[in-house]
Amino acid sequence: MSQTDRPPSEEALPIDPARLGPRLTDRSAIVTGAASGIGRASALRLAAEGASVAIGDIDEAGAKTVVAEIEAAGGRAIAHRMDVSSESEFQSLIETTLERFGRLDILHNNAAALGHASIGGDNGIESLDVDVWDRTLAINTRSVMIGCKHAIPRMLETGGGSIINTSSGAALLGGLTGTAYATSKAAVNCLTQYVATQYGKQGIRCNAILPGLIMTPAVAVGMSQEAVDMILDHHMTTEAGRPEDIAAMVAFLASDESRYVTGQLLRVDGGITSHAPTFADTRRMAGITD
Ligand SMILES: NC(=O)c1ccc[n+]([C@@H]2O[C@H](COP(=O)([O-])OP(=O)(O)OC[C@H]3O[C@@H](n4cnc5c(N)ncnc54)[C@H](O)[C@@H]3O)[C@@H](O)[C@H]2O)c1
Repeated sequence: MSQTDRPPSEEALPIDPARLGPRLTDRSAIVTGAASGIGRASALRLAAEGASVAIGDIDEAGAKTVVAEIEAAGGRAIAHRMDVSSESEFQSLIETTLERFGRLDILHNNAAALGHASIGGDNGIESLDVDVWDRTLAINTRSVMIGCKHAIPRMLETGGGSIINTSSGAALLGGLTGTAYATSKAAVNCLTQYVATQYGKQGIRCNAILPGLIMTPAVAVGMSQEAVDMILDHHMTTEAGRPEDIAAMVAFLASDESRYVTGQLLRVDGGITSHAPTFADTRRMAGITD
């Protein structure tokens, strides 16, 4: 079996959320980009922990499917079609969430245009399409600012909340392509620290998660197996991450267990950003194959 083979989704995770007990009873959450991948796993996990979940996504059919999954498991959720880069559509998502659930405690800014599939032309600097740059920053960065701007006043009405931004390890290191994507995520990291700084004293925490390679539909569609294998070679773990690995961190950051964690850029990345760049080459040179 190749080390990149995706484990069957029905395979039990080592940590069963049901055994932990619900940590988010009576809380209300918004997750953007939850029709698929990391957002979907986070929405399912937050609902399993007791939160009511509003799914904001441009893919309405996908969002409704995830709502049906949550309801089938006994949870509470709504789907709302929206484009995260639109201020009025994000406001509408927040107002709908308030109307349905009465409060807002958790905002997971997760939706993004991923360089590989949904947006072409995110290349090296000389061939970078300016429209791609603008669109990438609008969907990945402006959206986070808009979400925070309109969610924070509503969170303050009930004493505070937790904002969780999905960033990327790509924001930390240079690369040959994906210039706009990486820059958009670096700005998300900065925004995370500004929001945490400005609202910490009022009870709002803000953190970013920087995933490594996570086997989501975006990766499956947008990356060749060769590219996946090459990237995985540089992770310290035996397999790529699963959306549930990020969802576990989202649930922790959403809960009071993380009450002393704010302004952090948390790398959930199989160690890819924590070792010497020569890691994979050294292993090969030493003949290490496990
Ligand atoms: N998968 C990875 O390896 C990886 C690594 C690092 C960071 N990330 C980040 O994780 C997040 C989720 O990625 P994923 O891999 O689950 O991708 P995905 O494509 O599976 O899911 C992205 C979701 O966002 C939605 N979306 C896209 N544009 C939107 C818009 N303008 N408005 C509303 N919804 C929109 C899509 O419809 C989709 O449901 C992104 O922020 C991505 O940058 C992913």
